Amino acid sequence: MNAPGGLFRAKEALKSAVMDPKTILQEVLRRSGKASYGKKVFWDAVDRPHYAYCVYQAASQAKSIGLHAISVIEFGVAGGNGLVALERIGRDVEAELGVKVHPFGFDTGSGMPEPLDYRDLPYLWRKGDFEMDVDRLRERLTDAELVLGNVRDTVPSFIHDYDPPPIGFIAFDLDFYSSTVDAMQLCDAAVERFIPRAFCYMDDVIGSDVEIHCEFVGELLAIEEFNTGHQDRKMAPIHGLQHKRPVPALWNSQIWVLHLFEHPEYGHYIEQPRAEIFDLSLED
Ligand SMILES: C[S@@+](CC[C@H](N)C(=O)[O-])C[C@H]1O[C@@H](n2cnc3c(N)ncnc32)[C@H](O)[C@@H]1O
Repeated sequence: MNAPGGLFRAKEALKSAVMDPKTILQEVLRRSGKASYGKKVFWDAVDRPHYAYCVYQAASQAKSIGLHAISVIEFGVAGGNGLVALERIGRDVEAELGVKVHPFGFDTGSGMPEPLDYRDLPYLWRKGDFEMDVDRLRERLTDAELVLGNVRDTVPSFIHDYDPPPIGFIAFDLDFYSSTVDAMQLCDAAVERFIPRAFCYMDDVIGSDVEIHCEFVGELLAIEEFNTGHQDRKMAPIHGLQHKRPVPALWNSQIWVLHLFEHPEYGHYIEQPRAEIFDLSLED
């Protein structure tokens, strides 16, 4: 299908502006050459705001504990639009925060594998869906590394093969429960391979009315099982994230954080930008 034309996009922009005036501010910010990247991310005035939020937060956390580089990972690349976006976001974050961002993309390269059982939601996805044009994508990529093969085989040797900087962000978009469980083996890597609280985007926890996600199948089941099987590491959503955003959005309910309680820097004190809110001395 062709991308929607200019007239269609203009009509959609006008409709949004009438329904929600905040979209005007977002559009102004998006085009601004002066606004900081952090401000654009705060207002969701960027492409793939969920990736941008996670990468920005991960890089800020890394900076606060003296790290100069992080890895960001997309599990499930398909055509590659997400990985290309991740590269762009990485460059923008690095330009603002001075933390180098290394993107990695994992995919079979040949589309979805065979679903194993009902937990893979075969009523939604079939073998071969989302095939990748590997050569075309490789031509487009500049910073990202493509790790091709079934994650069941590529994840166990990833750290050894690539020696990536500490992982700050993982997008889980493999659709299947079985693939997500295999990808989550990465979360068992040595603690220094992560920032203390690594951001995760879980794509397949909300979907169309046909996609009826619950904790007994799919990604939500993989998360449950990960948490049951780990004492020192837990994956948890950011409580109330939508209330902290000036533009609440669906993606706010798709962000989890991998907490590594045994990380030597987990308790490292982080000075907050608005330190005055912590001044609780008695007022005159
Ligand atoms: C929905 S697509 C990803 C879309 C992409 N993140 C984006 O935003 O454009 C899901 C991808 O997961 C990949 N995938 C699923 N199971 C996999 C596995 N076990 N190993 C490697 N890749 C897998 C499929 O090949 C498919 O391309």
